Amino acid sequence: MTTDAPQATPTPNAAFKPRIFSGIQPSGGLTLGNYLGALKRFAQKQDEGIETIYCLVDLHAITVWQDPEKLRQQTREAAAGFIASGVDPARSILFNQSQVGAHAELGWLFNCVARLGWMNRMTQFKDKAGKNAEKMSLGLYAYPSLMAADILLYHATMVPVGEDQKQHVELTRDIAAKFNHDFKTDFFPTPEPLIEGAATRVMSLRDGTKKMSKSDPSDASRINLTDDADMIAKKIRKATSDAEPLPESVEGLEGRAEARNLVNIYAALADMSPAAVVAEYAGAGFGTFKPALADLAVAKLSPISSEMTRLMADPAEIDRVLGKGAEQAAAIARPILEKTYEIMGMIRSR
Ligand code: AMP
Ligand code: TRP
Repeated sequence: MTTDAPQATPTPNAAFKPRIFSGIQPSGGLTLGNYLGALKRFAQKQDEGIETIYCLVDLHAITVWQDPEKLRQQTREAAAGFIASGVDPARSILFNQSQVGAHAELGWLFNCVARLGWMNRMTQFKDKAGKNAEKMSLGLYAYPSLMAADILLYHATMVPVGEDQKQHVELTRDIAAKFNHDFKTDFFPTPEPLIEGAATRVMSLRDGTKKMSKSDPSDASRINLTDDADMIAKKIRKATSDAEPLPESVEGLEGRAEARNLVNIYAALADMSPAAVVAEYAGAGFGTFKPALADLAVAKLSPISSEMTRLMADPAEIDRVLGKGAEQAAAIARPILEKTYEIMGMIRSR
């Protein structure tokens, strides 16, 4: 008997070894949002000694049009961004998704597990498709089921992401639970989203109600990891703020989206809590706070951008790293995919 409802009692993850999986689309340059919401924490998790698998999800990127030459370039640049942010290919597995065919294969199997009703609730699809849903690719619609495959292909138990990806990780849990229920197994874990830190949702520098994004038409709305020191400082100086001084406590940031965003960015860059930041700057205006933030951002980000430039000078080395990562990833993924086929009743006679 199959059921359309997600199951109430997921398989306990205690039966699975702790393992982290996360991914970023190489669909444009990396931003400060990617760094604080994802990359910085990817490196921290690796440094905590947890097994970490990180992926440049090129198959997700092509759900909207990508120029082939640019996609190749952006994938290498994103790989350089991971490494420059502290993801060490000797300690984490780092690869691009399309080099491990098992992602697409498990993605198909999960297309047959996920329900249309679940996909229809995905807010990222609604945001990206807008009023043009009819003209979007079928892949954009199926995107979250491929994401579930990415995670479950490694039996990952934890998924560090920014706030915007929470719904997709919840869908992954639903797919795992339905698969386990329908096939009377406890084969897949139900992974937890890890949404931590002061900057799980970095907002645009121009509009505190919009997420900072690589696809925003205004370059001034974001800090790119490839921006140089002058550019970083200039964008922060010009960031939208307000005329009030900083409050004494975080409650005083209520209704001040831009001010809150700048405080959160400072906190995340400095590894402080937002409360500690406002305590330090209480009463100061943006004329004081912005230059301090600009200095901090330059100090933290310009080593990353110069390391990216250095790594990008040798694209063959980046490709070699991704190829080696893909081999390591495939060695974990293959047996899990094979077992999934077997559970579902496919003949595997070679
Ligand atoms: P994407 O660039 O959409 O592939 O996102 C890659 C990762 O970066 C995901 O974990 C996102 O949640 C995270 N991310 C992207 N933009 C932001 C943002 N503005 N604030 C926090 N995290 C973000
Ligand atoms: N959907 C994610 C994003 O846009 C990228 C992604 C694809 C991902 N597969 C994943 C994130 C698996 C975490 C785990 O940000």
